Amino acid sequence: MSKNCIDRFTTWGRILHWTVAISFFILLLSGIGLFAHVFFGFFHIFGGPEQSILVHKWTGVVFFVCSILLFLSHIGETFRFDADDARWIAKLGGYLSCKHADIPQGKFNAGQKLFGIFAFIATVVMGVTGWIIWHMTSYSLEMTQLSLMLHSLFFALFMIGMVIHIYLATIGNPGTLAGMLWGKVTKNWAKTHASKWYQKVVKN
Ligand code: HEM
Repeated sequence: MSKNCIDRFTTWGRILHWTVAISFFILLLSGIGLFAHVFFGFFHIFGGPEQSILVHKWTGVVFFVCSILLFLSHIGETFRFDADDARWIAKLGGYLSCKHADIPQGKFNAGQKLFGIFAFIATVVMGVTGWIIWHMTSYSLEMTQLSLMLHSLFFALFMIGMVIHIYLATIGNPGTLAGMLWGKVTKNWAKTHASKWYQKVVKN
């Protein structure tokens, strides 16, 4: 990488993120057959319903642990909201307008921070309800039914969040994916997308 680039994510941070992303997709493929009958065919990928559910349970453990670690690794930036973040939220980052919203942002913009908080809450709800469903004989019928409902609801919300996250991290904002793949972004990208973070990095 040339001197036009700056460090954005450490190797450890990238391994953690991609472990979360890969386990998310394994959970999707192994669990979707339980969500609705039309997706029953997905069980064949893992050799049948029983095998799929086994994969789903243990991948869930990996996803839960790594997703919490990912959240903790960004916790410093995630909860730092200021007046620029309020302006960013009021304008929805300019995504619904033709004009580029020139609002200075830190390492992550306000939308990314809100996504990080949402992903944490969704992970906790999916993890706790998943645990109850896994050990349903130890819990009351009402508790198991509530867990099944919340697990399905948060799955649907997580999918909406993921479609938006993947779009904005790839074709929606060219140059962003490079940071998560190779650890570096161009200085130009940093000045455009995270100008306050860029100023801080070049000062140090
Ligand atoms: C194919 C799937 C995915 C792609 C292509 C992707 C891409 C990216 C990229 C490029 C970034 C860096 C953004 C930046 O530099 O500003 C990022 C950050 C992040 N990703 Fe993903 N990601 C994927 C899946 C996931 C999943 C499954 C989760 C969690 C459930 C997740 C959670 C996060 C979080 C918390 C961050 C840091 C803050 C943020 O950008 O919102 N990602 N992702």
